[in-house]
Amino acid sequence: MANAELNEANLKSCLSSVVDPVFEKPLSVSGFLKSVTTDDSSRVSVEVELPVPSYPKESELSELIQATIQQAFPECQDVSVKYSVNIRGKQSGGRIGLNVKNIIAVGAGKGGVGKSTVAASLAYALQHFGARVGLVDADVYGPSIPHLVGTSEKPVAQEFHNKDGQAVTRIVPVEARGLKVMSMAFFVEPDQAVIWRGPMLHKAITQFLQDTEWGELDYLIIDMPPGTGDVSLTLSQLIDLAGAVVVCSPQKVALLDAVKAVQMFRQVKIPVLGIVENMSGDIFGRGGAQEKGKDLQIPFLGEIPMNAEIREKSDSGNISELLTEELESQQYLLKVAENTSIEIARTLIEKPSRPPLEIL
Ligand SMILES: Nc1ncnc2c1ncn2[C@@H]1O[C@H](COP(=O)(O)OP(=O)(O)O)[C@@H](O)[C@H]1O
Ligand SMILES: [Mg+2]
Repeated sequence: MANAELNEANLKSCLSSVVDPVFEKPLSVSGFLKSVTTDDSSRVSVEVELPVPSYPKESELSELIQATIQQAFPECQDVSVKYSVNIRGKQSGGRIGLNVKNIIAVGAGKGGVGKSTVAASLAYALQHFGARVGLVDADVYGPSIPHLVGTSEKPVAQEFHNKDGQAVTRIVPVEARGLKVMSMAFFVEPDQAVIWRGPMLHKAITQFLQDTEWGELDYLIIDMPPGTGDVSLTLSQLIDLAGAVVVCSPQKVALLDAVKAVQMFRQVKIPVLGIVENMSGDIFGRGGAQEKGKDLQIPFLGEIPMNAEIREKSDSGNISELLTEELESQQYLLKVAENTSIEIARTLIEKPSRPPLEIL
């Protein structure tokens, strides 16, 4: 199309076959091309709408777009590429009236691998990228999120009006540095041993989602109890999760637990987004999770090194500072969040979601 006229329709059709370097889909398939305009002096402006809050290859994509246009339209004087973000979602909470685009479960085969640390830092990292985020602590056996985010507040009940104008009482989540938080720990005393039977668990989780005023969110992260499938089953019945992130440490035994966690999620039909290797480094080794991910055909979402600043910040209730202060671990935590949002968007691009069912 070397001799085509420089106009918007021709520009659009020449760009439709450009393949973006992250999702590896033509722009005509991914729908990232928002607008293309040209003016009298043969200058072109392109607007790309990204489905994720952080896209690692903007400059590479810009160069591809520029080169494609320059080649097809040699008379073109200048191409500017601008980016905007419109986070895509599965509308995960549609079935129970939650206004949440993506609900992500963070799980592990056993306790102590840093599941809560990863869940909380994932939430703050997505918030750091500009997303609206909530965090549910569903680890009934060891709820630790309030401690990690440094809050001692309790949620309050408040009256709201539903869309039919009726007054309903709903729980307002606690806010910890911009993050909306709900936890089992808000409702039981720290030293109170609680034995959860299946129906009680089901009821508590349902309340956390259905009776809580989350508002509009891009991502809701759920810190799952380790191992068992009870809470996962409840969740998969209640909502349409974007998927699960499985956390493990690099040792061989921990990897076996991770495999069990993956199988458990698959059993309850929650798609597994990928594996995170936490506490990666000298003591436990490195790279085991990435290998295991390959065996299981699961994406590797990144590694988080064993690092004293992570332990200090989380144990002192300042985990959000890992993302706002330029500490060594920041880049790793941001990468895990970036990769997680990319994996979610990838599934949506490959298999567009149906609109949520209207509940009458
Ligand atoms: N990458 C890391 N580097 C150093 N300490 C970590 C790291 N990840 C977690 N920890 C620490 O390990 C302990 C267990 O982490 P936690 O997130 O509570 O695990 P889980 O929720 O899986 O039981 C905490 O003291 C936490 O601060
Ligand atoms: Mg925990």
